[in-house]
Amino acid sequence: MENIKRYTVTAALPYANGPVHIGHLAGVYIPADIYTRYLRLRHRDVIFVCGSDEHGVPITLKAKQRGVSPQQVVDEYHELNKKAFADFGISFDIYSRTSNKIHHETASEFFKKLHSENKFIEKTTEQYFDVEANQFLADRYITGTCPHCANESAYGDQCEKCGSSLNATDLINPKSMVSGNKPILKETTHWFLPLDKYQDFLEKWILEEHKEWKPNVYGQCKSWLDSGLQPRAVSRDLDWGVPVPIDGADGKVLYVWFDAPIGYISASKELTADWEKYWKSNDTKLVHFIGKDNIVFHCIVFPSMLKAEGSYILPDNVPSNEFLNLEGDKISTSRNWAVWLHEYLHDFVEKEDVLRYVLCANAPETKDNDFTWSDFQTRNNSELVAIFGNFVNRTMVLSWKYYEGIVQPMENLDAAEQEIFIQISKLKESIENNIENYKFREALKNLMELARLGNKYLADTEPWKLIKTNPEKVKTILNISLQLSANLAVLAEPFLPNTSKKLLQMLALEKISWDNVGGEILRAGHQLNKSELLFSQIEDAEIEKQIQRLADIKKQNEMTQSTAKPLKENVSFDDFTKLDIRVGTILEAEKVAKTKKLLKLLIDTGIDKRTVVSGIAEYYEPENIIGQQVCLIANLAPREIKGIMSQGMILMAENANGELIFASPVKNVKEGSEVK
Ligand code: MF3
Ligand code: ZN
Repeated sequence: MENIKRYTVTAALPYANGPVHIGHLAGVYIPADIYTRYLRLRHRDVIFVCGSDEHGVPITLKAKQRGVSPQQVVDEYHELNKKAFADFGISFDIYSRTSNKIHHETASEFFKKLHSENKFIEKTTEQYFDVEANQFLADRYITGTCPHCANESAYGDQCEKCGSSLNATDLINPKSMVSGNKPILKETTHWFLPLDKYQDFLEKWILEEHKEWKPNVYGQCKSWLDSGLQPRAVSRDLDWGVPVPIDGADGKVLYVWFDAPIGYISASKELTADWEKYWKSNDTKLVHFIGKDNIVFHCIVFPSMLKAEGSYILPDNVPSNEFLNLEGDKISTSRNWAVWLHEYLHDFVEKEDVLRYVLCANAPETKDNDFTWSDFQTRNNSELVAIFGNFVNRTMVLSWKYYEGIVQPMENLDAAEQEIFIQISKLKESIENNIENYKFREALKNLMELARLGNKYLADTEPWKLIKTNPEKVKTILNISLQLSANLAVLAEPFLPNTSKKLLQMLALEKISWDNVGGEILRAGHQLNKSELLFSQIEDAEIEKQIQRLADIKKQNEMTQSTAKPLKENVSFDDFTKLDIRVGTILEAEKVAKTKKLLKLLIDTGIDKRTVVSGIAEYYEPENIIGQQVCLIANLAPREIKGIMSQGMILMAENANGELIFASPVKNVKEGSEVK
């Protein structure tokens, strides 16, 4: 894209059914905020929009659980999250919500236009219906066993365990979340967006014209496109959402994933009367920051909607991150396994930038990553305090000690000193390139390199010693150190806005301009303000408190989880003896291509050597299980899985974290031994 005149930056609208946590921040809001703050510093015209996603079944379910109305649920979390984002310094231009009037109108108009132009197809299909509750069971109102990975609590729209996207009718043993009953099938009519008609357009637009998208994003799009797109329903039988705005559609609302992305447009409308240029002008660059579970909606579905509508621009990029784990476990709202933003802000006063720093330094940009409290502490104490803070503090303290806070002239720079200014310009350029290419970790590293450079300069020149022998030189050294600090203050703004502000205040600088970076920002004779510490040590006790909190949650989860499932119906002894369970040893293991969870195993059963496909790839690396003994149902009828004939099934047990572990003999046993 050339000749970009303005930017529209969106951050995924979080569901208003729970508080925002560090996973959201690392994946979406911190990168989006760094990007936007950077653009503003470069004087680019930008709007940064977000808001609460207030429709969808998770919200109505939560309301039901609590015995309140869905509106009460979204009101609570909208306010909580809006405030937490503001306190944390995420600089949205607007934080709107999808239950408001302007959004209902915008989404309705959008639907009506597509409907009147015959962009939808109407289909009558059979959907699950709860007779007792007298309602259809959309999406998460239904649970059952995933046909792909046998997870028994898959939802009607998705299995969270293996990540497959599902139709409710795919579930084995479906169960209503409302009454717990087995639902019946009943006919209902819905509007579908025929994504298959956009297949060619999407292939060209993404696969050919957007090869620069991040590999995880591009790869997911490619795999969706390769499997062939199908029409997707854009309405649901529910009573919470934007009503389908045409006659005869009583009891039907827009599917949440149809209305929510339109929320970006509604929020822009609410923000400015001039909103159209941010959405309908080819010289606008539209960038969606999202988490990886949102890729298909932002790269395939929403662009098809925009294309069908016809007057909107398409995203130029959809930088999506992978997931952040917490202390080795998947973050989960329902298991309370998270660090919640509002709680962090409460526990760590005036340490917003520490969390921004840690989450950016450790962002899951190319792969899933882990947040640990001990890493948080180390990064604070040995990076922010010991490098950044220490450099600025020494510079300020010495400037006050020797010169009452007045900037001294800089003279006769030696080669190393000239090199410092060259480095500032280089690092600035590198930060620019990295941010513009969504490489925020790298950009932050560049920033820290600058602080390291300053620290090294002070360590090499030792002005505290030199003051006795060559006081003239010390003037130059502190001048250069102050220039470095001022440059740091400007460059740090996108990443560490509070630190930047504090540092500018200490340096008595008002206007900051990115364009001044690289050279002399402070003039000789300039009077500095008093120095304060930018960062402070985080003590073990504070970290232990957090670790203890997580341990308590884990214990509680284990207790609730250990309420074992009720017994299945009795089976006869004869039925049992029909199963031939043997001990075998894994000889070879490899991942099954294009799947996340399957391993292809070669097992020595004592009788033969055979291939078994097993859904354990998420829990075991192939190379680590060679030689592992397993119990195997050896006379299970062979089944083809992903083109491989699987001869039998190995027995696995589920631990408290929902991970599968081998149910195998405690001591080594001869292959072929019967388990009975
Ligand atoms: N609420 C969704 C989620 O948290 C994200 C919606 S993004 C939007 O996964 F595009 F729909 F707004
Ligand atoms: Zn599954």
